[in-house]
Amino acid sequence: MKESSKVVIVTGGASGIGFKFAQSLSSEGHKIVIADLNGSEEAANSLIDQGSDALGVKVDVVNSDDVNNMVKQSLVKFGRIDALVNNAGLFTNLTLRPFEEISNEEWMRVMEVNTLGPFICAKAVAPSMRENSWGRIVNIASTVPIKGPPNMSHYVASKGAVIAFTRSLARELGGAGITVNAIAPGFTLSDGVLKNDLHSQMGDVTRKLSRSIQRDQVPEDLTGALNFLISDAAGFITGQTLAVDGGSVFL
Ligand SMILES: NC(=O)c1ccc[n+]([C@@H]2O[C@H](COP(=O)([O-])OP(=O)(O)OC[C@H]3O[C@@H](n4cnc5c(N)ncnc54)[C@H](O)[C@@H]3O)[C@@H](O)[C@H]2O)c1
Repeated sequence: MKESSKVVIVTGGASGIGFKFAQSLSSEGHKIVIADLNGSEEAANSLIDQGSDALGVKVDVVNSDDVNNMVKQSLVKFGRIDALVNNAGLFTNLTLRPFEEISNEEWMRVMEVNTLGPFICAKAVAPSMRENSWGRIVNIASTVPIKGPPNMSHYVASKGAVIAFTRSLARELGGAGITVNAIAPGFTLSDGVLKNDLHSQMGDVTRKLSRSIQRDQVPEDLTGALNFLISDAAGFITGQTLAVDGGSVFL
């Protein structure tokens, strides 16, 4: 049976992994809301040019007014919100450094975008999903809380919090027909990684050798997992973290 078309908000969807998610979901026939600090409208227009239904909204995920406006505009345009992909995050422009050299302000900023952002967005979409007794929230975590790499302790802690939040929210929303899961990507050659030359700072172990499938990970490697978790078929799966990293960690 063909999957029904859903309205999916992708935060941080204008570039990197988020844009690949948006492209892939729209090629499955879903309607996409791109919610990004920069480039939302351009990204949405490029989906529309391909024949998809999309909306771009400029959103800072830690700003409640922006997020409420995102929900309002999504409802005006599409009449419902079926799924939220909490993808916006601070990673690719972070400087790797020992924890003693991370300022309190930098720690709090990473926590703010990576943990408060998903919290605010989930809170904002929940009423619409509750109304329909159906919803999907997918949080983009990382495998770093499992591996514990050095020199990015704020980022590692923030993604650990995303996994913990996913479990707690799954319990709270299960009765409303809403599933909440996380995808944990391995190190991925996203736009931000390539732009900031982060890949050349990562050794071959992180990029390839720790994996069962020993090659670089690209954003396209992640889209199948998201499409599945959004689908009707995944309705009895919640609170889970799915590692998509070529078999580096086993959860
Ligand atoms: N690239 C990797 O190796 C990797 C690995 C594991 C997890 N992740 C996670 O995947 C997600 C996407 O990563 P990426 O590599 O594509 O990053 P990226 O830097 O290439 O893209 C991030 C996008 O999020 C947007 N964004 C940033 N802050 C925002 C905010 N406050 N509000 C709205 N939008 C905001 C940016 O404008 C950008 O479009 C992040 O949550 C990241 O932590 C990435």
